[in-house]
Amino acid sequence: MKTVLVTGASGQLGRSIQQHALETDSINWLFMDSSEIDITSKESLEQCFQNKKIDYCINCAAFTNVEKAESETDKAYRINAEALKELAKICEKYGSVLIHISTDYVFDGRSKIPYSEEDPTNPVNAYGASKLEGELNIQKHMNKYFIFRTSWLYSEYGHNFYLTVVKKSAENVPLNITTAQTGTPTNANHLAQLLLKLIREENNSYGLYHFSNSGETTWHGFAKEILRVTNTLELVELNKDNSYKTIATRPEYSVLNKQKIKDIFNHTPATWQEALRDLHETRYQLGSNL
Ligand SMILES: NC(=O)c1ccc[n+]([C@@H]2O[C@H](COP(=O)([O-])OP(=O)(O)OC[C@H]3O[C@@H](n4cnc5c(N)ncnc54)[C@H](OP(=O)(O)O)[C@@H]3O)[C@@H](O)[C@H]2O)c1
Repeated sequence: MKTVLVTGASGQLGRSIQQHALETDSINWLFMDSSEIDITSKESLEQCFQNKKIDYCINCAAFTNVEKAESETDKAYRINAEALKELAKICEKYGSVLIHISTDYVFDGRSKIPYSEEDPTNPVNAYGASKLEGELNIQKHMNKYFIFRTSWLYSEYGHNFYLTVVKKSAENVPLNITTAQTGTPTNANHLAQLLLKLIREENNSYGLYHFSNSGETTWHGFAKEILRVTNTLELVELNKDNSYKTIATRPEYSVLNKQKIKDIFNHTPATWQEALRDLHETRYQLGSNL
């Protein structure tokens, strides 16, 4: 039986993986939140890895607040970049495969076509720069890794755009949403399912991959579809508004090209609209009152 450690287990991707872990009985899961393993502490990592024979480590731990990363840059780098050096070294030392999640924000957004894994990176904010350095640290210090860059993650857990729109629409608050960025929303459950498939199949095509749902939209387009799916489109005022100034610059275009994942894993992601309906139906079945 394989042992899989999930760090940052109480974040939205960590919780999505926990939900799907219920469907797998051939894996010994170790879900650890930030109070159980601190990825910035060498001692904490060593303590966790030394006696457990961990086959895979899925690293969901990260500093993900893009706005705060501009002022708390040292902290963002400690968690997103420096910690990955030690995590990679420890995985290499104990023969564990590292599955790490990175971001579309490693790109500057000047492209007009989806970014492939070979395209040059050029982050435009501190979060993206720290995540890119994390990728490079992994690639430098170990061999058996998968890095999945993903984009616009949402789920039924934590803080994300989907939950914010659903909550605001329930309160009947007018929504003023930007059309200034184009990307692809990604259902965290779909990413979790891909990671589980990879582990179950013991795939060893290590490397860097892009994964998101397919298609593209703006944040405004995403909000409109959320309202449509939740049957609140007619009830809520939705406006296009590009006047809101964020602290961190965002890439204007950050759609990821998924051809490599199709070729190597034989995996075609669902469209972002299908993925959204999928989440809505899951929540409905679970009896969510949101
Ligand atoms: N969210 C997105 O839209 C998005 C888009 C592209 C890529 N990604 C990437 O996808 C991954 C998962 O994101 P997510 O949305 O699930 O993030 P999340 O909900 O913010 O979860 C991150 C988790 O990391 C934990 N953590 C922070 N510092 C830690 C440390 N030093 N040691 C151990 N755990 C620590 C946090 O725990 P505490 O809360 O206890 O601090 C939190 O549970 C991240 O790598 C992120 O960069 C996310």
